[in-house]
Amino acid sequence: MSDTAKLQVAGKEVDYPVLTGSVGPDVVDIRKLYAQTGTFTYDPGFTSTASCESGLTYIDGDEGVLLHRGYPIGQLAEQSSFMEVAYLLLNGELPGKDELDKFNNTITRHTMLHEQLATFYRGFRRDAHPMAVMCGVVGALSAFYHDSTDITDPKQRMIASHRLIAKMPTIAAMAYKYSVGQPFLYPDNSLSYTGNFLRMTFGVPAEEYVVNPVVEKALDRIFILHADHEQNASTSTVRLAGSSGANPFACIAAGIACLWGPAHGGANEAALNMLHEIGRPERIPEFIARAKDKNDPFRLMGFGHRVYKNYDPRATVMQKTVREVFKELNVSDPVFEVALQLEEMALKDDYFVEKKLFPNVDFYSGVILSAIGFPTTMFTALFALARTVGWVAQWNEMISDPEQKIGRPRQLYTGPVQRDYVPVDKR
Ligand code: CMC
Repeated sequence: MSDTAKLQVAGKEVDYPVLTGSVGPDVVDIRKLYAQTGTFTYDPGFTSTASCESGLTYIDGDEGVLLHRGYPIGQLAEQSSFMEVAYLLLNGELPGKDELDKFNNTITRHTMLHEQLATFYRGFRRDAHPMAVMCGVVGALSAFYHDSTDITDPKQRMIASHRLIAKMPTIAAMAYKYSVGQPFLYPDNSLSYTGNFLRMTFGVPAEEYVVNPVVEKALDRIFILHADHEQNASTSTVRLAGSSGANPFACIAAGIACLWGPAHGGANEAALNMLHEIGRPERIPEFIARAKDKNDPFRLMGFGHRVYKNYDPRATVMQKTVREVFKELNVSDPVFEVALQLEEMALKDDYFVEKKLFPNVDFYSGVILSAIGFPTTMFTALFALARTVGWVAQWNEMISDPEQKIGRPRQLYTGPVQRDYVPVDKR
């Protein structure tokens, strides 16, 4: 505690402690505000509200910094693996070699799904969006894995976390296979987490699937870039759902539902669709003009961020990865050229400069995922797969926090004041 904040409200003057974290803005602790003054704070969208204490991820939006447990995202993306980052987020420290082997082994042993879940898929229409399938199947896991739903038992919490991380690639790959009418493939435990996912998605039982190491590395890096991002909308949803004591599978299903929206994880799908719609560089000014027009709801998808008021460090890595994947697969895609030129023009435009709108993680990810062969509808499902690591780590942190309470915001009520009921024949 470094200071106190004075507030004069409702005829009272009250002091509130100012709390200091390890880095980042101080926070005014207003927990006693209502009890002491009978007033609430009003902050729709939580633009100035810290909802919890957390030691997982730090973002400095002005400087474009993202740290997981203190490690910069650029270093993790270049030098580590998704499994290492998962271990780091869950356990607080990078694993030693033996710890990493053990963790890989544990996750690998949980990759299969209960066989009856395959039947569950058949209840969906073939054209169901993979995110609809993910919401349903992940929610249904609680009906299949009852033995890891006691949230008061740390061991069960860890088993549920491992199960979720391990099964998410299987669930996402099956959603894809179902949509294209191909048979589901069982996991292959001889492959890496990401290699196994590629095989379950693009392999067929009739042929051997050889994992391309460059593509495997690129996708693993994309997973790292999406692993966690502080108290974003879906993570806050997972925490809020979990605060009532709901089981982890139900909480992650809630997070998936929130992630789906185009302002959040759905932006990667929307961004690539937008780049296709623009189609050629000559049309960029028209779309920039639309994005600036207050009477047009259109926004540049993959641009802007609630926290970053500088270049999203994940977008930097993403742009570099596009080039690596294109080179390896010997492909080019005109939409990448459109994306590069759109970025260049927007960053020179006063509207985007003044509002500090930069490309975010979703701007380039779709270009890579599409080059690898994923249909746009799978993009947000891949985001959900990777973010599951952050969700379960944040959920575990919340449950272990002795100060944890059910999340229950209040409101500024603007509806009718009390009035008497009038029978229908008298209205
Ligand atoms: N294109 C054009 N104008 C924009 C954009 C954009 N992409 N983003 C924000 N603005 C404008 C907005 O109109 C507003 O202008 P004004 O102050 O004149 O009303 C100003 O910038 C601030 O926008 P806001 O909506 O109040 O800011 P926010 O912090 O509530 O929203 C955002 C952040 C990410 C929802 C928003 O920037 C956006 O809708 N971006 C496009 C969708 C997107 O790419 N989302 C992915 C985010 S990163 C991955 C993830 O978190 O899932």
